[in-house]
Amino acid sequence: MAMFQAPKGVPEYFPPRANAFLAVRQALSRPAELAGYGYAELPVFEDTALFVRGVGESTDVVSKEMYTFEDRGGRSLTLRPEGTAGVMRLVIEHGLDKGQLPVKLWYAGPFFRAERPQHGRYRQLQQVGVEAIGSDDPALDAEVVALADEAFRSLGLAQYTLHLTSLGCAECRPGYRATLQRFLSTLELDEATRERAEVNPMRVLDDKRDDVQRQLVGVPYMVDHLCAACSDHYDAVRAALVILGVRWTEAPALVRGLDYYTRTTFEFSHALLGAQSGIGGGGRYDGLMESIGGGKHSGIGFGIGTDRTLLACEAEGLEPGAGPSVDVFCVPIGSRAKDRLVGLCGAMRARGVRIDMAFGDRALKGAMKAADRSGAPLVVVLGDDEVDTGTVVIKDMAAREQATIPWDSVHEELQQRVLQRASERNAR
Ligand code: HAM
Repeated sequence: MAMFQAPKGVPEYFPPRANAFLAVRQALSRPAELAGYGYAELPVFEDTALFVRGVGESTDVVSKEMYTFEDRGGRSLTLRPEGTAGVMRLVIEHGLDKGQLPVKLWYAGPFFRAERPQHGRYRQLQQVGVEAIGSDDPALDAEVVALADEAFRSLGLAQYTLHLTSLGCAECRPGYRATLQRFLSTLELDEATRERAEVNPMRVLDDKRDDVQRQLVGVPYMVDHLCAACSDHYDAVRAALVILGVRWTEAPALVRGLDYYTRTTFEFSHALLGAQSGIGGGGRYDGLMESIGGGKHSGIGFGIGTDRTLLACEAEGLEPGAGPSVDVFCVPIGSRAKDRLVGLCGAMRARGVRIDMAFGDRALKGAMKAADRSGAPLVVVLGDDEVDTGTVVIKDMAAREQATIPWDSVHEELQQRVLQRASERNAR
């Protein structure tokens, strides 16, 4: 029988690398949690129409990359290609926007895009995202950008760049669009590109081909055609970013792959990831909520690629979540010792201590090998002799020291030693 394989373009994570994946995901959401963003668990599939209307029919994501299927009741559903439209639907459906504003939410999980798989480009991709809905305060834009920046920084990443621009609003974008189309109509472009210039002229700025880029010298940019309100807004966002110590590069040609963006728009790229360098992106979407049937609320958010952030960490030689998976490893020699250590493991886990033991009734040598392999800094050795005398041996593996202590104090002793190691680590 043929061997089964995971579907093409779907990365899987398992130990030891899964520890790094989990550590990255945790680091990406931590700044948002510290800023009062609440967690939202969203459906992995939604009405197809939500994405068509929310993300935009002309985008590659909607026109070429959606996993759409009919359910048994004949409804058209789509595996979510991104998270923002679903969060808007949730906020509208449950009336979250009737309470305190802005509504601040974060989410994490898999998203699905039928892209051509390559290194860092997957069909099932993982994101951690945030959305802040119901305020157009520029300080909120700066907060959202800074949360992403802090997430990357907290992982130790250094070789990434924040690209920032403003895409204007319903007031100033149409005029700019016409100006851009006039400019593009004077260029020598192939048929497909001409068509793109008609439907979505901003996308032409993103064309990677040399002969197109050469002709784009002197192309008008949105940031230079902002209305007074958008211009003031963008200035205020940048001033707040300075206060927050976030550094960025002005990116007037920045084009995002989703249609809903207005005003502040940004992308983070990593220098060592080659073609798939985008590790996160986001921006404001002031018309999105209304376009899918909700109130006139503005909003801003980002999505960070968890898979790509892990690749970026690895490219920089960082090891998120590195270190042993347990703090204590137990070595039982004999059946009475084993019963005691089974009980010790249960009791210590209830106290929040990470602890494992040697299974399979191995002799001392084999069990000590398992202890070594676990990487646990503390090893508890208990034989029937110790059971008789009411003692236990604790080995400190790094210091190569061991102590025999009364069994009655083993819980306290282990807990204290683990806490002490943790505080030493934090102090470093
Ligand atoms: P996005 O730029 O399409 O934005 O995706 C965000 C991030 O997800 C990208 O920067 C990238 O790191 C990762 N990503 C996207 N596609 C793939 C893929 N095929 N393989 C691996 N990683 C990928 C959004 O999805 C918006 N919803 C972000 C947002 C939230 N804007 C406002 N709020």
